[in-house]
Amino acid sequence: MSIDQLPEIALAMVARGKGIIAIDESNATIKKRFDSVGVECTEENRRAYREMLLTTPGLGDYISGAILFDETLRQKTKDGKPFTQLMMENGILPGIKVDKGTVPLAGFPGEVVTEGLDGLRDRLKEYAALGAKFAKWRAVINIGEDMPSKTCIDANMHALARYAALCQEAGIVPMVEPEIIMDGDHDIDTCYDVTEATLRELFQQLFEQNVLIEGVILKASMVLSGKDCEEQADVEEVAAQTVHCLKATVPANLPGIVFLSGGQSDELATEHLNEMNTFENNPWPLSFSYGRAMQSAALKIWAKDIVNNVAEAQKTVYARAKDNGLAAMGEWK
Ligand code: 13P
Repeated sequence: MSIDQLPEIALAMVARGKGIIAIDESNATIKKRFDSVGVECTEENRRAYREMLLTTPGLGDYISGAILFDETLRQKTKDGKPFTQLMMENGILPGIKVDKGTVPLAGFPGEVVTEGLDGLRDRLKEYAALGAKFAKWRAVINIGEDMPSKTCIDANMHALARYAALCQEAGIVPMVEPEIIMDGDHDIDTCYDVTEATLRELFQQLFEQNVLIEGVILKASMVLSGKDCEEQADVEEVAAQTVHCLKATVPANLPGIVFLSGGQSDELATEHLNEMNTFENNPWPLSFSYGRAMQSAALKIWAKDIVNNVAEAQKTVYARAKDNGLAAMGEWK
């Protein structure tokens, strides 16, 4: 694919009433999820779990793309069909997580920086050949006393822009994900300020590094009260502050914004998205790229009997996709 085709893919990712399912947990992260429901974290169980998710009947009605982990991009259904082929047949674009996770940021206790740029050009070439149409890189910004530092924001946004430029060179749409973590007792105004500073720096870096904004998708966190803040902002305030912050920082020529769920309950993640989509004249489609808020109900059901509960678990995957697809149009009740 050439750079001219990136905007078309980006627009397809945020087609009306559709969003992304994030199933790109690293082996360490999926082990935590499996441990929580008593499933052994073997390669075959990971494959079977992802097959259950990706073969959900009708998934493509509400899902435009799925973000996979390296191992999953190479796996097949039990009948031998590559997951990527199955996805394309169902109108679901294959995506790939390409960052290598976070490490402590030297000199800044409590802060982290995302790794994975070394060798990325070659990895992206291989991912494109394997069928990946878009990629994801997650930067993590923690809020706490004297955090985040400007250094942490700058280092992480610089890396995100370097990743984005490399993706576009390889003909892959970069999904750029600066996640402001909701842990902490900070109030919603603090989250707003940190989100604003982060997004400003992100788009400055994307501009400086010649990234084509029309070929980028932003994966954003919502502007929320910290998880341990005594005063929790309600749905209306979260929606209003999030959209206000995005309007203040994100160029109107960006094709679309999808949200991560970040530890919100399934219901709240859907409610917040729906509320934002009741506003008139949002400059971009606002949709979802949920991981936990798409999968948690299904994982619990599947884990009880991973052979016989596939269809039952898939019902909840479909229901979550439908609810969030409707919320992406402001039509969820
Ligand atoms: P959550 O929706 O569970 O936050 O996951 C989204 C994701 O891809 C995080 O990088």
